[in-house]
Amino acid sequence: MTTTDNLREAFAGESQANQKYRAFAKRAEQDGFPNIARLFRTTAEAERIHAEAHLRSMDGAGSTKDNLEAAKAGETYEYTTMYPPMFQRAQAENHRARTMFGFALKAEAVHAELYRRALEAVAQGKDLAETGFYLSPVCGHIEFGAPPANCPICGPKADGSWLKATPASLRSASDRVAA
Ligand SMILES: [Fe+2]
Ligand SMILES: [Fe+2]
Repeated sequence: MTTTDNLREAFAGESQANQKYRAFAKRAEQDGFPNIARLFRTTAEAERIHAEAHLRSMDGAGSTKDNLEAAKAGETYEYTTMYPPMFQRAQAENHRARTMFGFALKAEAVHAELYRRALEAVAQGKDLAETGFYLSPVCGHIEFGAPPANCPICGPKADGSWLKATPASLRSASDRVAA
């Protein structure tokens, strides 16, 4: 294994550990262990620091134009190639994963389109004109401008729960304890 291979593997592992530890922290909170929850959150942040350094070491982030191209390609792969068979299989098995596979399949198409619009702006040497982003915390759909009453993907489930994206709101959303 070359160091580049090792970096790829370590980046994937640390990224997954970050995600898992944040989920474990939520569970520890629900189970009445706030200090263990804090330990999981602190370790999650440590793994994020490792992951970010590994990504840097493999030059994983380029110019914003390059990053938008990569992000759009990733989202496009997900909604055209990765998710459709996963969704069909989960539906056939009546697996509970079918709900989020279905939501993600649709949300990734929107994400790809938003990145396309961002690329258009960057090609003209501009930032995105939109300033207000709203995230459906149920399905991951993103709206620019103003939040509609019903989410185009998850419907009335998102009603009243749109998350207006700010650095602080996004941070606290990722740490929110599930009801
Ligand atoms: Fe996405
Ligand atoms: Fe939604």
